[in-house]
Amino acid sequence: MKKILVTGGLGFIGSHTVVELQNEGFEVVIIDDLSNSSESVLEGITSITHKKPIFEKLDLKNKAAVAHFFKSHSDISGVIHFAASKAVGESVENPLLYYENNLNTLIYMLKYVLGLQESNFIFSSSCTVYGQADTMPITENAPVKPAESPYGNTKQIGEEIIRDTCKANQKLKAIALRYFNPIGAHPSAKIGELPIGVPQNLVPYITQTGAGLRESLSVFGDDYPTNDGTCIRDYIHVVDLAKAHVIALQRLLNNKNDTNFETFNVGTGVGSSVLEVIHAFENVSSQSLNYKFAPRREGDITSAYADTEKANSVLGWEAKSSLHDAMDSAWKWEQKIRNL
Ligand code: UFG
Repeated sequence: MKKILVTGGLGFIGSHTVVELQNEGFEVVIIDDLSNSSESVLEGITSITHKKPIFEKLDLKNKAAVAHFFKSHSDISGVIHFAASKAVGESVENPLLYYENNLNTLIYMLKYVLGLQESNFIFSSSCTVYGQADTMPITENAPVKPAESPYGNTKQIGEEIIRDTCKANQKLKAIALRYFNPIGAHPSAKIGELPIGVPQNLVPYITQTGAGLRESLSVFGDDYPTNDGTCIRDYIHVVDLAKAHVIALQRLLNNKNDTNFETFNVGTGVGSSVLEVIHAFENVSSQSLNYKFAPRREGDITSAYADTEKANSVLGWEAKSSLHDAMDSAWKWEQKIRNL
């Protein structure tokens, strides 16, 4: 049984990936500093998989602690690195925090991964690296545009750091997965998204409004050059996204990679407008959502959806769930945590 380290493994995407790894028979070790997650997520994972992953509460910026960790886990065969700060607005206000949290920890990780017998590394990247792409759908060859925020920049620089390290060390094999918009929850409703404070992202804001925690959703902008005037995104079910990590890892473990640094878009290939997401919610919850139009949000792009051809044909992965399925699971999870 191969041992896999998942950093940030109690977070939204991390926890769903831990479930899929355990389902595929991997032994999982989680590192998480609990800065944006809760230890109770372990119970959810254990209840779904009937297997408790090893968990170490650890801040990856603590070099000595990380060194100690790798000494006692030198048999790790692969690392999936989620641990990072991810609030776009906060990154604009406090860029150094983001560069320190997201880049220093990535550098330490890569150093330790290089010291392992098997140096397999999966990186959480983002479609944010494309900015407002010139053509849709977005392929992996679309140019990387100047980042809109320090957060986005950490993803671009992170990919560059990995690319350079792979060039210098053929031993290192890495895949960067460029996520589009992850939403939804595990169908069991035992794990899901747990935003701290007022949600910044659309779907948790919608489900919290549906649950009565927020009065009304502000739809940012109704005058975009799209069919209904609202922005278009590619919303991917978090379980589909989690499975992409397992498949990417298996590609590296089985030496199936074409080069030692590869990038893949992880999306559905379908673009949905904000109003379409609202209507999907209304459909699964059989209630109408209280929303109003508000001015555009700074930094938002008009449209982003993935060309998934490379992930489909090269990685052998495709998204299975529809927007309806994803909204249904998000709503079930919201109802569960609010005791509705
Ligand atoms: N939106 C609203 N009202 C809200 C929240 C969002 O109308 O209360 C709209 C946004 O304007 C946007 C769409 O819903 O059109 C999606 O917004 P999200 O905040 O959910 O997602 P983003 O596409 O802005 O963010 C995603 C990732 C980030 C990443 C960013 C880069 O979640 O991690 O893409 O573009 F940085």
